[in-house]
Amino acid sequence: MPKFGKEEIRNLTKVIESGCFCDKRGGFMDQFRADFARELHAKHAVAGGAAMLLMHAIPGAIGAGAGDEIICDPVVQFHGIACLHNNVVPVWADVRPDNFLMDPASAEKRITKRTKAIWVTHLWGFPAEVDKLKKIADKHGIILLEDCAHALTASYKGKLVGNWGAIGTFSFNMGKQLPTGEGGMAITNDDRLFAELNRRIIFGESPEVLSSNYRMTELQAAVGVAQLKKVPGYLKEYRQVRGILDEAVADCSWLDQRKPVPGSVVAPYIWSALFRGERKGITQPVFHAALRQAGAHIWFGFTQRPAYMYDFFRNPNAYGNKGCPYNCHLYTGKVDWKEGLCPVAEEVIPRIISTSNMVGLAKGRAEARALGEAIRLAESGNVKPLEYAPLEKEVLAIVKARGPLDPMEVIAIIEKKKKGWHTDEHYMFGIMEGLRDRFPYKLSHAGPRKFAYHDLT
Ligand SMILES: Cc1ncc(COP(=O)(O)O)c(C=O)c1O
Repeated sequence: MPKFGKEEIRNLTKVIESGCFCDKRGGFMDQFRADFARELHAKHAVAGGAAMLLMHAIPGAIGAGAGDEIICDPVVQFHGIACLHNNVVPVWADVRPDNFLMDPASAEKRITKRTKAIWVTHLWGFPAEVDKLKKIADKHGIILLEDCAHALTASYKGKLVGNWGAIGTFSFNMGKQLPTGEGGMAITNDDRLFAELNRRIIFGESPEVLSSNYRMTELQAAVGVAQLKKVPGYLKEYRQVRGILDEAVADCSWLDQRKPVPGSVVAPYIWSALFRGERKGITQPVFHAALRQAGAHIWFGFTQRPAYMYDFFRNPNAYGNKGCPYNCHLYTGKVDWKEGLCPVAEEVIPRIISTSNMVGLAKGRAEARALGEAIRLAESGNVKPLEYAPLEKEVLAIVKARGPLDPMEVIAIIEKKKKGWHTDEHYMFGIMEGLRDRFPYKLSHAGPRKFAYHDLT
C-alpha cells in the first residue's frame, strides 16, 4: 500500500513556502521528470496533469487525426477515448485468452492504409508482446504506443515497458503504483516526439500548434519525487501478494491463473484469473454467490463487455453529435462493430475475476483465504443464492428509470418516496458497486461515481 510521510510533507512544505506551485526551473517538476526518465531508462519524460491528458495530446503529436485509425485493445477504453478526442477512429484488435493482452496477429490483421499506430495496454501490470508488435509496426511503417498506466517498471525481455514504442504513458492517479493524487508522465527516446508532445500540453500566449493546458503542478511533483523512491518497495510487496493469490487458485481446475508472456517482469496492479466453472458444472451466479458468502472482495466480469460494445463508443456524441469521426468525409473506412469483432475479448471479459493486487500482505492473505473458501463452497454445492434486498430492487428501478445517477442522486429520489430507508452516500455507493458486481449484471459505471442501468441478463 502506498505510504505517505515525512519526505512528502517536507517537499510539499517547500513548495508552499516558495509561493510558486507551477513548473519552475530547478523545482520539483524538473527533478521528477529527470528522476523518472532515469529510473525508466528513457531519454525524455513529459509531465502532465493526468495520463489521460497526455494521451489526448499523443495522436496530434504523432500526426494522427481525421481520417486516420489507431489499433487499440478492447479490454480498457482509455486509448480509444484519446482517439475519439482527436477525431481518430479506434480499431479494435483481439486479445490473448491466457492473459487478456493484445494479440499481435489480430493487430496485424487490422492494419489498413489509414492506420497510424498500434496503441497497446500493459493491462494490470503484465507486459504485452511488444517485441512482436514493434516488428509489425516497423514492417508497416506505423508507430507503436504503449499505455503503461498499470505497469510502472514492468519489463519485457530485459527492457522496461514504455521504451519499446515511440511513447509510453504512466498514470499517477490515487489508485496507481505511484500516486500523486492526479498526474501522469510520458516517456520517449525520440527528440522530435518529445518536442511535439511538449508543445501540445502547454498553452502559451500564442501557441505554435493547437494545444491546451495539460500541466502538472509542483505540488504533485513534490509528492511524485518522494513516491518514486518507494516504488521498488511497493512492488516487492505486490509481487508477494500476487504469489499468494495465484497460489489460492493453483489447484482449482476451473479457475485459470493469468499467464504472463515468457520474458516478462510483471508490476502487479490488479490480480485476475479466468472463470471456467463449466469444467466442474459450476455456474457463474453460484460462484459469485460463493464469493459473497465467503466474504471475498473479488469483482466478476470487469467491464463486462469489450470497449466497442459501449454506447459512447458506438454513438460518439462529441463534435456536435454529427457522428464524427466515423462518418467524417475524410474517413474512407467503415465502422461496423458487430458482436464477434473480437471473439476472445467478448468471451473472456465477463469471465474475469479480479481484485486489487496493491494491498499489504495481511490483506492479501485474507483475500486468498476467502477465495479458497469460495472455491470450496462452490464445489460443495452449499451456496445460498444471491437475492436482491428490497432497497437494492428500489435502486435498480430508480437507475433504470432515471439514470445514469450517482449515489447522492439516488438517495434524494429515495428520500422523496418516504419509505423510511435512511442511507448515506458511502453506504449507497457500496450498494451500487455491489449491484454492478452482481450477475446478471444490471448496473455499470457511467463516470467516476455514476451508475447506468444495463440489463445484461
Ligand atoms: C490503462 C489506463 N490508461 C490510462 C489511464 C488514465 O490515467 P489518469 O487517471 O492518470 O488519466 C488509466 C486510469 O485508470 C488506466 O487504467
